[in-house]
Amino acid sequence: MTQLTEPVYYHQGELQMESSQIRTLAGKMATPFYCYSEARLLGNVRRCKDAFESRGIQIHYAMKANSTLHILRLIAEQGLGVDLVSGGEMQRALAAGFPASRMIFSGVGKSRAELNAAIEAGVGRLEGNQTESSQFNVESAEELALLAELAEQQNARVSVALRVNPDVSVNTHKNITTGQKGNKFGIDMERVCELCQHYADHSHLAIEGLAMHIGSQICDTEPYRAAIGKMMALVDQLAQEGVEITRLDLGGGFGISYGQGDALDFETIAEVIAAETERFHGTVIVEPGRSLVADTGILVSRINYVKAAEPRSFVILDAGMNDLMRPALYQAVHPIVTVNEAANGTAQEYDIVGPICESTDTFARSYPLSGDLQAGDLVAFLCAGAYCSVMNSTYNSRTIIPEVMVSGSEAKVIRQPVNQQTLMAFEQDMPAL
Ligand SMILES: Cc1ncc(COP(=O)(O)O)c(C=O)c1O
Repeated sequence: MTQLTEPVYYHQGELQMESSQIRTLAGKMATPFYCYSEARLLGNVRRCKDAFESRGIQIHYAMKANSTLHILRLIAEQGLGVDLVSGGEMQRALAAGFPASRMIFSGVGKSRAELNAAIEAGVGRLEGNQTESSQFNVESAEELALLAELAEQQNARVSVALRVNPDVSVNTHKNITTGQKGNKFGIDMERVCELCQHYADHSHLAIEGLAMHIGSQICDTEPYRAAIGKMMALVDQLAQEGVEITRLDLGGGFGISYGQGDALDFETIAEVIAAETERFHGTVIVEPGRSLVADTGILVSRINYVKAAEPRSFVILDAGMNDLMRPALYQAVHPIVTVNEAANGTAQEYDIVGPICESTDTFARSYPLSGDLQAGDLVAFLCAGAYCSVMNSTYNSRTIIPEVMVSGSEAKVIRQPVNQQTLMAFEQDMPAL
């Protein structure tokens, strides 16, 4: 049986988030929808701050995990910085109240327009509050040359961290490792010194930092120790060559428990990072995404059919891979529970699928749920707060589903659904080119 963890639990046989009943919410709006807990989000942020900030480590939320404005606002209000990877994310972060002085612009393929907009907004500006960190995490010599050109055009001087590929192996899904040779991310360690020398004393760029991000959903501290060890050796080597590194951005990737298995809690990884960087005198930064938001959200869906079949019956939901893409993208399995606890009685194994015309629209195979399931029953996917709603699409001409946030017994819609009329409106005018 799936273990429920705060803020999701059964009360008198009904699934609740905080003190809001999921069935009641599903009676007020069409399924599927995402539902988040404000208390869990704020609790996660507090635990993260307690672990990292108490050790002098700065936190920049990796907003790619969930960029719904209300969620961003709540995180910005707690004083965290933000890690962003596109011009669109920058617009959202600004709208949610993150100042440019707390933005780190990451990403392997930033466009000229995105870099220009970020310089103009003040990302990486060297003047100003030295207790905050803002920088461009640059991933190639080519990007560095473009950034230098654009900063010069705008007569700005910006702070840069070179994202290093530390080439460490990580025990996670192959599609979410990012710090091994052959991954598209980062700059080979051997090239970093050469680039620092080339841009030393540049009037528009200051290479002040080194950055890394070795992957996501990592539950083991060993890859971090190995990668940070390599980063510290590089800092030493650069110091010998007269280049002073004052910022170390160690990325995110801290794993959470998807119902079973390990997790990497904030305290454990913060202690490891603090120990491994003890002799570093600059600013240490982390960029957690998943670990701040994953367990704050669930996806609520209704059963369209229970289709009798061999070797197993299918539970066909009204949520599809366009609403929740992680299972199709990297075989992720989210714990699934029935909203009515009684339905969790004698279990039977099903293949749980969506309505999309793709075989990969499969959420789980041989998954145990109650043997009494019927069309119309509600189910919830747990741990659906990170890399879920942000990835949704309109494939099969489906709509963008709404998002709700609960706080105690109150709930509000934090993102309206985008219906077919709205989607089709973008296709009415056909301006000639
Ligand atoms: C550069 C960078 N930083 C931080 C993160 C956040 O990772 P996670 O959500 O696993 O903490 C990512 C995710 O891919 C990333 O690419």
